[in-house]
Amino acid sequence: MSEEARLVEWLRAARRVIAFCGAGVSAESGLATFRGAGGLWEGHRVEDVATPEAFEYHPELVWRFYAARQAALQEVEPNPAHRALAEMEAHYPEFLLVTQNVDNLHERAGSLRMIKLHGSLMEVRCTECQRVTPIDRPVDLGAEEEPALPRCRCGGLLRPNVVWFGEYLNPAHFEEIGTFFRQCPLPGSTGAAGGTLLLVIGTSGAVGGGYGLTTQARRYGARIVEINPELSALSLDVDLALREPAGQLLGRVWPQVRS
Ligand code: OAD
Repeated sequence: MSEEARLVEWLRAARRVIAFCGAGVSAESGLATFRGAGGLWEGHRVEDVATPEAFEYHPELVWRFYAARQAALQEVEPNPAHRALAEMEAHYPEFLLVTQNVDNLHERAGSLRMIKLHGSLMEVRCTECQRVTPIDRPVDLGAEEEPALPRCRCGGLLRPNVVWFGEYLNPAHFEEIGTFFRQCPLPGSTGAAGGTLLLVIGTSGAVGGGYGLTTQARRYGARIVEINPELSALSLDVDLALREPAGQLLGRVWPQVRS
């Protein structure tokens, strides 16, 4: 049986699906990934634009970087991978989308509920009162020679509501992921692996070792599938790997599953 046929079979048999996504999911929409040739971290040093210290010392530089990324979102559209994931939410009795992406393409494809581990480009947070506010257009920083940093109505400086290097992730997100895995039926109780499937899509697994999701999936007897044209730090943990761009693959595979 081909790898693709096996994926179709596993997606049809699954009752519970958890998808763990990274920048590769949005690559076919035209957004740059972080690592590798042409990646965002090639053009920018992480410590200049994605740390609390950078924001403290050079808020304007950091804001220029994020405003440009917000503007880039206006130019792109969800691709078939985002759309397939949105449809999975309605298709499976239990479905959890966990994304490291800060873009809004999952939402725009129709996903209603997701864990955004690294926050959102289209939200701002007040550094004083901590209020989080969604925004619907890129932050306007004014003219180059007279920049105006965005302010909260309390007067505090606003920052992008994303997680920077050196900052903590929301522990409630890991509670929710842990709960999903702990509720896996015992292997063998409703078909192989209790019908639970972990899809690892478009992530290098370079940050936080993939946050232990593959380890948890293994412990609770879930099947693990990777969709990524390249090897990743998680590739050794998976049961099945499809080495193809996610949009191309899911655009072909998902219609066979849902029909
Ligand atoms: P990376 O840039 O580290 O990895 C992107 C992955 O996507 C690579 O493994 C690519 O092979 C793969 N890829 C590229 N095109 C693809 C496609 N069309 N379909 C499927 N896969 C494709 O991005 P992340 O793993 O998301 O964190 O990076 C994790 C975190 O590191 C990011 O959220 C960001 C970054 O530093 C923060 O900013 C906190």
